[in-house]
Amino acid sequence: MEDSPWWRDAVVYEIYVRSFADASGDGVGDLAGVRSRLPYLAALGVDAIWLTPFYPSPMADGGYDVADYRDVDPLFGSLADFDDLVADAHAHGLRLMVDIVPNHSSSTHPWFQKALAAPKGSEERDRYMFRDGPSSTGDGARQEPNNWLSVFGGPAWTQVPDGQWYLHLFAPQQPDFNWRNPEVREEFLDVLRFWLDRGIDGFRIDVAMGLIKAPGLPDTDPGFGATSPIWSRPEVHDIYRDWRRVLDSYPGVRAAVGEVWTDSAEDLALYVRPDELHQSFNFAWLEAPWSATAFREVIDATLRAVPAPTWVLSNHDVVRHTTRYGEGAPDPSIGLARGYAALLAMLALPGSAYLYQGEELGLPEVKNLPPEARQDPIFIRSKGEVLGRDGCRVPLPWSGTAPPFGFGTGGSWLPQPADWAELTAERQAADPSSTLAFYRRALAARRALRGALPDTMSWLEAPSDALFLARGRLVCAINCGTEPVRLPPHERVLISSGALDGPDLPPDTAAWLYTAG
Ligand code: NOJ
Repeated sequence: MEDSPWWRDAVVYEIYVRSFADASGDGVGDLAGVRSRLPYLAALGVDAIWLTPFYPSPMADGGYDVADYRDVDPLFGSLADFDDLVADAHAHGLRLMVDIVPNHSSSTHPWFQKALAAPKGSEERDRYMFRDGPSSTGDGARQEPNNWLSVFGGPAWTQVPDGQWYLHLFAPQQPDFNWRNPEVREEFLDVLRFWLDRGIDGFRIDVAMGLIKAPGLPDTDPGFGATSPIWSRPEVHDIYRDWRRVLDSYPGVRAAVGEVWTDSAEDLALYVRPDELHQSFNFAWLEAPWSATAFREVIDATLRAVPAPTWVLSNHDVVRHTTRYGEGAPDPSIGLARGYAALLAMLALPGSAYLYQGEELGLPEVKNLPPEARQDPIFIRSKGEVLGRDGCRVPLPWSGTAPPFGFGTGGSWLPQPADWAELTAERQAADPSSTLAFYRRALAARRALRGALPDTMSWLEAPSDALFLARGRLVCAINCGTEPVRLPPHERVLISSGALDGPDLPPDTAAWLYTAG
């Protein structure tokens, strides 16, 4: 593979490994399953794949609780399977990125087990965030060291038998590392090298903005603002400067994308300074409602601040966008049409795009999973009050007419809706009017223009509920309103997300136009 900065305009496909394809027949997706579907991904037309964690883990948070950073959980295969997958992905022209989880380990990680066994103030405890509670705990006084809450609900602290507390920004089974400890820093540099040596093309960094906490761990208000003692502390950037030096020391181009939740594009931009990460996720795009004004604001704010932006509509943590875009609409099934249109907008923008497995099949969020099947710690910790993220993690339907729809031979760890028989990859591959066929066409259209478009874009004048986005000779028109809009002048239509109405673009539709320039 050539040494180009491939990540700048790559289309990266997120594989939530446990739900992608199951080769072993135990109902859980695995690395051999991914490998068996590489031809499908190559035919889809993506440039790279990102694998969610497959490391040894008790799976308290779907593998984001890592017990060993240098191995593969038997549930997902072996290191040999991983090596085969890397080689085969490259043979299919696909880059491969892996998830790295540096904010916290599993509570079963040997370091945490040693910390529990060691006394207060020991070197073992210093690798994590152990603290004493307040000295006076009168009636009603808080017992925990501060007011921080877990992202998954409840306090972010759990007490151990000797009275100390340890910090976990997520589940109690995910203790936070102390990133001010040099041993932690060295350990992760070594973990990076371990996977880079195996030939991977990059990393997706979990909770990239959370590693450093403010000295003294003061109380906080909710939110990602600049004064937060938890998120985006200035010193976190030193970590990524160290990581960048490691990435750059390898042959070829190895890239890193940070999972960064922030309040502003300016803050996001700090992570992608030339000596830090290559990319950071731009969740403002995913959070924007179906509205031309909202889309335009996000696009403008992003492009003003971020030199090599990313765009993403769905991932394994959020409600699938076909469902999201239908919420509150008179007919929720409109969400799928809007999803097509948003895809064309996303693929027309400068930068790179991240797809989430199953969006190319038009999968909706599964809302009616039985409570006993749900596994998300958010659901479990909230005692079912918050549904959590299982609905976007239901294993993919590949073929056949009954569950598990070719996912594997041993059922699927979350039940699939019976009507997914209509949505299997096999069925859609044979149908030119399917979502899969549309995704293939859209990705092929983007590839055909690769290298021919400037890195910048401008707005053409458009009716208030529409956007006309111009990049060189490409104009993407998107209609978020309720009335048809007249398309801007063009030579021909390259692709549209739905039928056009003569010279007009119907509501909830987008089109790529080739213009005289
Ligand atoms: C973000 C991951 O995407 C999510 O799935 C996980 O629960 C949290 N980080 C904690 O690792």
